[in-house]
Amino acid sequence: MNRPASRIVYVNGDYVPEDEAKVSVFDRGFLMADAVYEVTSVLDGRLIDFPGHAARLARSMAELDMESPVTEAELLAIHRELVARNGIDEGLVYLQITRGNPGDRDFAFPDPARVKGSVVLFTQSKPGLADSPAAKAGIKVIGIPDIRWGRRDIKTVQLLYPSMGKMMAKKAGVDDAWFTEEGGVVTEGTSNNAYIVTDGRIVTRQLSADILHGITRAAVLRFAREAQMVVEERPFTLDEAKAAEEAFVTSASAFVMPVVEIDGAAIGTGRPGPVATRLREIYLEESRRAAM
Ligand code: PDD
Repeated sequence: MNRPASRIVYVNGDYVPEDEAKVSVFDRGFLMADAVYEVTSVLDGRLIDFPGHAARLARSMAELDMESPVTEAELLAIHRELVARNGIDEGLVYLQITRGNPGDRDFAFPDPARVKGSVVLFTQSKPGLADSPAAKAGIKVIGIPDIRWGRRDIKTVQLLYPSMGKMMAKKAGVDDAWFTEEGGVVTEGTSNNAYIVTDGRIVTRQLSADILHGITRAAVLRFAREAQMVVEERPFTLDEAKAAEEAFVTSASAFVMPVVEIDGAAIGTGRPGPVATRLREIYLEESRRAAM
């Protein structure tokens, strides 16, 4: 396990060794998956796209009528403190805010004036995150039905089906899965947004409640347009993807990751294509520059 023995985590105002961190058994995050999260990557010891993650966190909480126990400025300070205390050069910061511990199990939301949310953050050290061998080889995916709930734009910790999707991929001997709806239309990956390149255009599903509004997606589409690449935000099918010139995914932990095989069919040359490769370079360069 890639886990430093002395990792320091943050729980409700305290920085403590991970073995001493405690959350109640009555916490609604634990009992009801009543919690939202964010994953922010760290390169050169600095946070990538922090304002985007903070804004999406605020939106997720607002959509669920959750009140944040911490301000954005406090969150930034906690992120930085954890990166420093754990000596993270490349890796991730995981943040979760739950609706807290009402003292018993009850479906109704507790009064936010009485019950404050729980805030937990921890780091994951991942040396070589940017210079990843997977990005040079590309990853293989399979299509699986999207049976998740209808508010995938809210970043909740209800990750059982995405976990099952990763297990289906593992069982099929591949790296990940893309979710598809009626007619084989792709929504997104288990933990990333999905794209194809067809007729030289970058195609990715438009934003709605059907997919997570990826922070990496927003940045990558902006950089693509600035580089005069054509972007089409529309639905595409798995069949269209299999016939595409390129495919790739984006997320805070994978940045831009080429997809070279879908359901056993090689995409393009079966090697990472020029668009995904270039977008990865631009994304890493630009986001390193803007890191905080
Ligand atoms: N996952 N879609 C889904 C379903 C996701 O879970 C994620 C992120 C994304 C990409 O969003 P962003 O670019 O903001 O990371 C899209 C994170 C990394 C995770 O669960 O670990």
